Amino acid sequence: MLENFLFNLNSIQDTERLGLIIGNIAQSGDVICLNGCLGAGKTTMTQAIARGLGVPSNCYVTSPSYTIMHEYKGVIPLYHMDFYRLNGSGDVIDLGFEEYFYLDGLTIIEWSERAEDILPKDRVTIAISLNKDQERIARIFTSNDILASRYKKMLAALLKISKA
Ligand SMILES: Nc1ncnc2c1ncn2[C@@H]1O[C@H](COP(=O)(O)OP(=O)(O)OP(=O)(O)O)[C@@H](O)[C@H]1O
Ligand SMILES: [Mg+2]
Repeated sequence: MLENFLFNLNSIQDTERLGLIIGNIAQSGDVICLNGCLGAGKTTMTQAIARGLGVPSNCYVTSPSYTIMHEYKGVIPLYHMDFYRLNGSGDVIDLGFEEYFYLDGLTIIEWSERAEDILPKDRVTIAISLNKDQERIARIFTSNDILASRYKKMLAALLKISKA
């Protein structure tokens, strides 16, 4: 783990600002894993990323926890998944959702840790923590060498705003 950015998400506006930047820069084939407890703000972050990706504001991004996956049309497709109700990677494979990781769109996965063993190696993780005072911190990291990573541009943008 070579890069590790921390952002305070004190308000929904903070989440919107960060999500817009990430969505703007996301490329086809990117996979973003969103981890954090119930109510941490994963779906809220996805809504912001969707805006940055060009999903129209009249298209409301809702939690896919029952349907497991929702697809939206942005500049590139957005595949929004939520693995909370799944028992493991076998369920993801049975549902055929693993294939979406390698299609021409951005895949965002809430509760991705449910299927850790089938996640693409090259991915970005956003882990949102929520403390008892309702303060939220997003930690963003990749598991690969930043210079070789497809997320080089995204991480450079995050580095810039983390210093601003
Ligand atoms: N940065 C933030 N500041 C303040 N409130 C927030 C923030 N992000 C999310 N919230 C609020 O927290 C609540 C839960 O958010 P959200 O549904 O995004 O969580 P989640 O992590 O997706 O939960 P789940 O695990 O159930 O899917 C919502 O009411 C949302 O408005
Ligand atoms: Mg959610």
